[in-house]
Amino acid sequence: MTARLDGTAALITGASSGIGEATARVLAEQGAAVAIAARRRDRLERLATEIDHKGGRALVVEADVAAKQEAVMAVDRTVSDLGRLDILVNNAGVMLLGDMVSAPVEEWDRMIAVNVQGLLYATHAALPHLLDAAEDGPRRVADLVNVSSVAGRLATSGSGVYNLTKFGVGAVSEALRQEVGGRHVRVSLVEPGVVNTELRDHLRDEVREQVNRRFAGVEMLEPEDVAEAIGYIVTRPRRVAINELLIRPTEQSR
Ligand SMILES: NC(=O)c1ccc[n+]([C@@H]2O[C@H](COP(=O)([O-])OP(=O)(O)OC[C@H]3O[C@@H](n4cnc5c(N)ncnc54)[C@H](OP(=O)(O)O)[C@@H]3O)[C@@H](O)[C@H]2O)c1
Repeated sequence: MTARLDGTAALITGASSGIGEATARVLAEQGAAVAIAARRRDRLERLATEIDHKGGRALVVEADVAAKQEAVMAVDRTVSDLGRLDILVNNAGVMLLGDMVSAPVEEWDRMIAVNVQGLLYATHAALPHLLDAAEDGPRRVADLVNVSSVAGRLATSGSGVYNLTKFGVGAVSEALRQEVGGRHVRVSLVEPGVVNTELRDHLRDEVREQVNRRFAGVEMLEPEDVAEAIGYIVTRPRRVAINELLIRPTEQSR
C-alpha cells in the first residue's frame, strides 16, 4: 500500500491498548503523524518509541478524556505540536456490564463520562481544526471516526447502560454527519463485535464469567482487524464516505 496520509495529523484517544493502539500503528504506517492519548503514559511511550523506530512520528498525550479540560488539551497539543488535525478517532471507552438491578451506579457514571462526555468534549474541540483541514489540508477532506459497538445497534440484558452510551454515539454521529459532510468532514461510525482486548478486564468477576460463557468458542476479532477497517475508512477518496461499519467475528450471532 502507498502511504495515503502523508502530511496529515491524527489524534487517537484510548491509544494505550487494544483497538486504539492498533489504529495508531495503522495510521502511522499510512504516513500520518499520530497523537496518542490515554491515561497510561508508560504504555503510550512504549508505542511512541515503536512508531518512531519504524520511521513514523508519534506524540504522547497523557489525558483523561472524561475531564473536559484534558480532552480539550489533547486536541490543543495535537495542533500545537503536530501543526494540524486531519483525523480524530474517538476510541477511548469502558464497558462495565452487569444487570441494572445490582449495578454500582458509579459504573454507569464512568461509562457515561468516558464513552459519551469524553467523546463529545474531544469532538467539540476538534471540529474547527477538522473543518480547516477539510478546506486547505493535503487531502481536502477530514475524518471523525467514532468507535461504537454492536452494542450500539442491539440492546441486550446485562448491557443496558453500555447500550445507552453506544446508541448515543450512533445518534450523535449521524446528526453530525449531516451537519458537516457538506464541508467535507466525514463522520464515520465503527461498530465492532467482540474483540480480543483488555476491555473485559474491568468487569466485576461474576460478570466477566457470564461474558466469557456467552462468547465461549467464538474466535474473537483481533484489534488489528478493527484498526484496518479504520485505516480503510480514512484512506478513501474525498468523494467516498463510509458512514457506518459493523464488523463482527464470523461466529458471533448477535
Ligand atoms: N473489545 C471489544 O469487544 C469491543 C467491542 C466493541 C466496541 N469496543 C469499543 O472499542 C473501544 C476501545 O476498546 P478496546 O476494546 O480496545 O479496549 P481497551 O484495550 O480496554 O482500550 C480502551 C482504551 O480506552 C482508554 N481509556 C479508558 N478510559 C479513558 C479515559 N477516561 N481517558 C482516556 N482514555 C481512556 C484506555 O486507556 P487508559 O486506561 O490508559 O486511559 C485504553 O487505551 C471502546 O470504545 C470500546 O467500547 C470494544
